[in-house]
Amino acid sequence: MSDSEKLWSEVDLYIGDHLGVDDEVLSATLRDSVAAGLPEIAVSPPQGKLLMLLATSIGAKRILEIGTLGGYSTIWLARSLPSDGQLVTCEYSAEHARVAGENIDRAGFADLVDIKVGPALDTLPSLDGPFDLSFIDADKEHNPDYFRWAVQLSRPGSLIVVDNTVREGAIVDTTRDDPTTAGTRALYEAVRDEPRVSATAIQTVGSKGYDGFVLARVR
Ligand SMILES: C[S@@+](CC[C@H](N)C(=O)[O-])C[C@H]1O[C@@H](n2cnc3c(N)ncnc32)[C@H](O)[C@@H]1O
Repeated sequence: MSDSEKLWSEVDLYIGDHLGVDDEVLSATLRDSVAAGLPEIAVSPPQGKLLMLLATSIGAKRILEIGTLGGYSTIWLARSLPSDGQLVTCEYSAEHARVAGENIDRAGFADLVDIKVGPALDTLPSLDGPFDLSFIDADKEHNPDYFRWAVQLSRPGSLIVVDNTVREGAIVDTTRDDPTTAGTRALYEAVRDEPRVSATAIQTVGSKGYDGFVLARVR
């Protein structure tokens, strides 16, 4: 870990200590996900809380998530929902979905969260919109398609958040043309070419390194 990465992680801990971005349910979710062998690629605690705050601030009642992993971001998002809200989350891996199901159950959101197992592009055409907020955080090569589906399943005023859209600056590195980087660049083109959204992207540093996210609002 570089000195910068160490500092960013320490600052994330400081933010966590001061602003309440962790608790027993959330840390148990991460602990049990790691124990089950899932990769440590969930959003950071401050990012998770940002998702909750965004959803709360628009009074979201229906949320779509693409990429569940162990349910960490799912639980943050579910915390924004009213008791009659709904969160549909798409996960390719049956094992990830099983672990997420246990974590979501312990967090008290089993009744609100519907985990759809399988490739998201098979699930998305079967969903009924609108969703008030969509969080896209799965395989990056399909991000342009996920974004188009999210727009399709939105209403005016819906928010769409796409994670990992800077990737240590890979998007501007002309030597990089791997599928993940290509998918991320294609996402920016899809967002730029979509007249129904107004969007920005924010670069971030923290315990997850140097990355960023796209935030789009459907007009
Ligand atoms: C970065 S992780 C999600 C992290 C999660 N959003 C969080 O912050 O707690 C990406 C997840 O997307 C899943 N995934 C990958 N390809 C997928 C696909 N085609 N359809 C649905 N899920 C997929 C992976 O199995 C993995 O669990």
